[in-house]
Amino acid sequence: MSANSNSIFRTKSIEDLLAGASGDRALKKVLGPVELVFLGIGAVIGTGIFVLPGVAAANYAGPALILSFIVSGLTCVFASLCYAELASMIPIAGSAYTFGYVGLGEIWGWIIGWDLALEYMIGLSTVAVGWSGYLVTLLGSFGIHFPAAICNPFGQNGGIINLPAVLIVFVMMLLLIRGITESVKLNNFLVILKLGVIILFIILAVGHIKPANWNPFFPYGVGGVFKGAAVIFFAYVGFDAVSCAAEECKNPQRDLPIGLVGSLIVCTVLYILVAATLTGVLPYLIYKTTAAPVAYALLQVGITWGSALVSVGAVCGLTSALLVTMYGCTRILFALSRDGLLPQVFSTVHPKYRTPVNSTILVAIISMCFSGVLPVMRLAEMANMGTLIAFIIVSASAIVLRKRRPDIERPFRCPAVPIIPSIAMMFCFYLIWELPHFTKVVFAIWIAIGIVIYFAYSKSHSVMEKSQKLGM
Ligand code: ALA
Repeated sequence: MSANSNSIFRTKSIEDLLAGASGDRALKKVLGPVELVFLGIGAVIGTGIFVLPGVAAANYAGPALILSFIVSGLTCVFASLCYAELASMIPIAGSAYTFGYVGLGEIWGWIIGWDLALEYMIGLSTVAVGWSGYLVTLLGSFGIHFPAAICNPFGQNGGIINLPAVLIVFVMMLLLIRGITESVKLNNFLVILKLGVIILFIILAVGHIKPANWNPFFPYGVGGVFKGAAVIFFAYVGFDAVSCAAEECKNPQRDLPIGLVGSLIVCTVLYILVAATLTGVLPYLIYKTTAAPVAYALLQVGITWGSALVSVGAVCGLTSALLVTMYGCTRILFALSRDGLLPQVFSTVHPKYRTPVNSTILVAIISMCFSGVLPVMRLAEMANMGTLIAFIIVSASAIVLRKRRPDIERPFRCPAVPIIPSIAMMFCFYLIWELPHFTKVVFAIWIAIGIVIYFAYSKSHSVMEKSQKLGM
């Protein structure tokens, strides 16, 4: 523990963290590099590519959406290098939360953990709503129609509750309680399927590209590229879920950087190709009305079977994004609870399955509430806000830890520190600037609630506080 152990800026030592992650609260070590890349792709490819590009192209960026994907992708690449350095030197469940705790101090650790909990729960809800949209579209193409009241967000198109979204979150909860090994096997299968349908889409649609559809390329001006980037950023949300799995890795020092950067590179290339294909095949404004743009584009060029196949793949792909996002969120609550910042009940591990059962149930209940009533764009913007703040704190932690703890072995070193982390932070601040005012206000309220909880509960229940008292 650090010398400033009374302060809200007390930092936990990496040695303490490693020791705390053993014994009866330890998680099973089952993940290798391939599973981690798959975990990353599983979390990353989802609503952001299957649903949002249509709305983002039609409303914000036009064909220049391709550049929006590059801007967001670059932001994530810079941030991922910081993540990779920290995750390889601190292979403990909790991701950015743990890095903030070690690098900047307990209050920052708590704020980032609280922020991540929101990001992941809202992210999970966003994907659930996207999943519901594809399922409803798919079943509709077979003549099975749901009443609008039970498949739309509250108050939209006659919607009362988005029931498919609520139900899929419930099923994911049951799977994750059952165990990570089984969930990983399912995830690998779903990831292969969703990669397959994205590649199939590109192959089927590329011959139908009409370069005239890319003209004008900047219908909303260059500013539209950045507005589009702030929304489409959601497509990259989740690659940090790989670092949440640090404690369940067989060889975290080597495999975490591979999982983080590897999954990000694969996804960035695919996103650029999908954005170019979507906007090249049909005029961008056409996507204003569809919740399933990838399948819709194939339908419009007459490849009906391809459209149906892509819809099935998208439903499966979104399922894997759900699984991994929920997984990441439960591990963050688990870590907060194990450190005493949340009640201990959330770090209790199921006696048979060795999974954090209570935090899984809590995440599911909250996400079912969000996904049942809110529209996809609002949810995505909120999740982006949380993620961008997390990236800023992680990048800052990478710089601070180089100064505070130069002694710790860094199996992976982010190049050009502090330049790369500073560029990552600048990109993140800029994308936050581009988000709607409403999103920033809701986020500020959430953080204010978090700070109240910290002073009312977490500070006095912190494991660090207790061990300090015992030592006196
Ligand atoms: N990036 C994930 C998605 O697009 C969360 O669904």
